[in-house]
Amino acid sequence: MDRLNPRFLAVKESATLAINQRARALRQAGQLVCHLGFGESPFPVPPLMVEALQEHAGEKAYLPGEGLPALREAAAAFLRRQGHALQAANMLVGPGSKELLFDLLAILAGPVLVPVPAWVSYAPQAALLGKPFVPLATSRERGYRLSPETLAQACTAHPGPKTLILNSPGNPTGTIYSLEDLRGLAEICEREGVIVLSDEIYGLVTFAGGPAPSMATVLPSQTIITTGLSKAFAAGGWRLGLAAVPDALGALMAPLRAMISETFSAVSAPIQYGALPALAYGPKIEAFVERTTAIHRAASTFLFERFQALGLLCPRPEGAFYLFPDFEPHREALATRGITTGAALAEALLRDAGVATLPGEDFGMAAESLTLRVASVDYDGAEVLERFGKGAASDDLFPRLKAGADALEAFLGARTA
Ligand SMILES: Cc1ncc(COP(=O)(O)O)c(C=O)c1O
Repeated sequence: MDRLNPRFLAVKESATLAINQRARALRQAGQLVCHLGFGESPFPVPPLMVEALQEHAGEKAYLPGEGLPALREAAAAFLRRQGHALQAANMLVGPGSKELLFDLLAILAGPVLVPVPAWVSYAPQAALLGKPFVPLATSRERGYRLSPETLAQACTAHPGPKTLILNSPGNPTGTIYSLEDLRGLAEICEREGVIVLSDEIYGLVTFAGGPAPSMATVLPSQTIITTGLSKAFAAGGWRLGLAAVPDALGALMAPLRAMISETFSAVSAPIQYGALPALAYGPKIEAFVERTTAIHRAASTFLFERFQALGLLCPRPEGAFYLFPDFEPHREALATRGITTGAALAEALLRDAGVATLPGEDFGMAAESLTLRVASVDYDGAEVLERFGKGAASDDLFPRLKAGADALEAFLGARTA
């Protein structure tokens, strides 16, 4: 169609949203055993947040584009408690961190460097902006973490201004960068003047407890943190995200404010009030985050152990709610069934075993890679929140995950026809 901007020809609907719709239809038809495809927090929104939202449902005035002043202050204080020297003036509120990442990518010059596998939206966002996207190879042996050598090579190949996106705890890998890992990368970023977008949307969902190490700790002047309500606070549909732009990158604030004012204007006022108790991070919210993270850990560990027993190669999950198993040891057996790509594997699993997953290819892996992205959240969050820690075993707490693992086992054990 000649009236379509060619930039939009190659962009398709987000893979995760598409699989979710297909899996939902199969579930309604009673044909889905387990939905390991979609990574949404299964828990109810903490009551303190719901009460604050209800109380402010009548707020109807437009708020300042950069956010409700009290929320910006609460968000800065939340990040100060994690050791970052940030003030309310450094904070921006947006309709999800996804939108803020897009706005930041729009404003920052040069290509965007991203270790792969990576979250599904970074590459399409770059494509929408006509921005070069540079995938950086990682290895399973290093938990799919970027190495300083690979980063240094990419910097040499792409001189001039550039942005690196780091996501830890990571989607799709479930792994975390240690402070030592980050120091090795920060040294190169500092030398090369690379701006880092530190996507910390899963920052509180760490199985070792406490916030995950942050690039902003070791490279504060060049790191922008993004985070939000979607994961630890279980309120993805509320659509509220945050960005912390350090003083040293203050020049970004004016164009960011301009983008906000010319696009979404401001995040819904009641939602910003509803977010206040989350960022204030009092004892009840902290207890909620700790308990739900312990459940994420139990669910991820349950699947990890089942995957190990099936001979899949998978880094041990350290946070978030994902695993990234590689079916490489089963390549020959799968090939006899005509399955030679991750996409064919995901398709066969959905069709023959009723288990929804996403192929590693959607996250930037080669088509032949037999990796899958598995989300460990197909259970009734409200029920598990009630029962967890009272003696029930994982098999019993997470029946659909168990059924999914059983179906996967049967699928792999299935003889060629
Ligand atoms: C790695 C990663 N970054 C960012 C986001 C976007 O989160 P938000 O709901 O704040 O837009 C997600 C959500 O799935 C994600 O997995």
